[in-house]
Amino acid sequence: MRNLIKKTLHFFLKLGLKLFYLKPRKYSYDDITVIVHPDVFPPQLTISTKILLDFLSLIKLNNKTVLELGCGSGIISLFASKKGATVIATDINQTALEYLKKNSHRNSLKVELIHSDLFNNIENRIFDYIIINPPYYPKIPKNVKEQAWFCGEDFEYFKKLFKQLTNHINTSFNIYMILSEDCKIDYIKVIATKSNLVFDTVLEKKVFGEKNYIFQIKSKTLEPS
Ligand SMILES: C[S@@+](CC[C@H](N)C(=O)[O-])C[C@H]1O[C@@H](n2cnc3c(N)ncnc32)[C@H](O)[C@@H]1O
Repeated sequence: MRNLIKKTLHFFLKLGLKLFYLKPRKYSYDDITVIVHPDVFPPQLTISTKILLDFLSLIKLNNKTVLELGCGSGIISLFASKKGATVIATDINQTALEYLKKNSHRNSLKVELIHSDLFNNIENRIFDYIIINPPYYPKIPKNVKEQAWFCGEDFEYFKKLFKQLTNHINTSFNIYMILSEDCKIDYIKVIATKSNLVFDTVLEKKVFGEKNYIFQIKSKTLEPS
């Protein structure tokens, strides 16, 4: 029964997204307004972006360096910038970056934009915070728009991400990732373990009957025994 309700909800969500996103749409948070292109992840009809924004509102970001890995609309990057952080926003989707450039001017907020497949073009940078709202459905994305949702048939996005995190990332970074119970969290954790990374749950939030988690990703070797 629960599965049927979920499937029906997903059907209507997909239909709603399709109709809603026939043209660019606005999204606002804390007096920041962005115009979101139809080819970019929609924060309006999903809940993960808002949960991350509310979470970040509780963290002091003044004079901190923040990376939003896979920025989409960039509302999180702009919010971090408004809170006084130096912000680097990356995405594999050029349209997302073009729109974020316009949105950052529109809101008079500074964000450095870098086109990058995960850490490929940002390997030697130092960050205090890394914020990730990843694609997590196991399917091969057919185009760049679908990369906002699909992580590859065998979670290739996560395999590459965790490998890069271990190889290139300073262990003092605070890395936060949001995931929903709708995805294979346990399998993603197993992939992380293979790269010697562990997840600490820092937030659990139920919205419309779906549990969402923000995890802090840490190096296993630095964990107290
Ligand atoms: C779920 S959306 C989240 C967008 C935004 N961070 C938010 O919370 O609203 C995932 C984002 O990751 C980007 N993405 C997917 N694969 C990527 C990759 N390999 N490298 C960089 N960005 C990627 C997508 O284009 C999309 O913008």
